[in-house]
Amino acid sequence: MDIPLIYFSSSNNTAYVAKLIALGLEKRGLKPDLVRIEDFKAGRYDLADADVIGIGAPIYGGFAEPIKDWVKDFDFNGKKVFLFSTAGMVHFGSTSEMIKIVEKNNGKVIGGFEMTFQGCMDGIIYLKEQAQKYPLKKKELERAIEFGCKITDNAESGDGYFDSTYKHYLGATSLAIIKVIKLFVLKLIKVFVYVIDSRKCIACMKCEEICPSGAIQVNRKKPIINHGRCVSCFRCFKECPSKALNLRFIGNRPYYRGPWQLEGYIDPEKIKSNMEFNPETTD
Ligand SMILES: Cc1cc2nc3c(=O)[nH]c(=O)nc-3n(C[C@H](O)[C@H](O)[C@H](O)COP(=O)(O)O)c2cc1C
Repeated sequence: MDIPLIYFSSSNNTAYVAKLIALGLEKRGLKPDLVRIEDFKAGRYDLADADVIGIGAPIYGGFAEPIKDWVKDFDFNGKKVFLFSTAGMVHFGSTSEMIKIVEKNNGKVIGGFEMTFQGCMDGIIYLKEQAQKYPLKKKELERAIEFGCKITDNAESGDGYFDSTYKHYLGATSLAIIKVIKLFVLKLIKVFVYVIDSRKCIACMKCEEICPSGAIQVNRKKPIINHGRCVSCFRCFKECPSKALNLRFIGNRPYYRGPWQLEGYIDPEKIKSNMEFNPETTD
């Protein structure tokens, strides 16, 4: 059985976790396909034959918009879905929120996995210079491989598997409260981000091309950002060849690009998890 893992990842944490989950799936003899949402949206992957789909995103107040927008519009037509996400601090009940959306669109949610990459939030919004000093915990990473193993046993039986540290299954009232809090938090994040030096722009169109949410249009050599659509993933900022997109507020500090920059980065292939599975003995 091929299992697509469709994910969005800006600084590669979610891509990393997708890889770990894929290792777990492989241990069970399954064939995971790692698919970036951009490739999926560009029509380079077809979900028609998939019975089970993994969906992953970083938490930007909830599942990041490039994934959320797609899930909101997609008819899962009875397919089984598991969700995974990475956050720098708090998941904001995002899995609960996504479960509701997937189920509304005829999907059956069979599991959830959330991982916190301590310190990433600091790194991404530049609040501290020492953001790159958080060691990854091997045990934590093994948890993702374990999830990959267990989710498939349960996919066969139809039972759900929610990772043991999954604590965020929230009811309607809590979700409503969180929604209000999120409105303020996301506004704060965006205050840090939007400063563009359009004099340096060479109208190469790169930012427009890579923006995952279609928020940038270069018009008469000037990037115009639609703030409503922007998900602050910083890709334009990172990729701009003429450094026209700038974060003047905090200066030119090195940008956090992924877990390999962190002290203690462990190559996913080198993590040996103890999960040797025998479906007959696994409950
Ligand atoms: C625009 C933006 C919003 C974020 N919002 C949250 C948040 O609400 N809660 C949180 O814990 N982390 C938040 N983060 C941190 C990311 O969720 C975290 O670093 C994640 O692992 C990044 O995943 P990626 O490397 O796959 O892009 C945010 C990051 C960005 C860029």
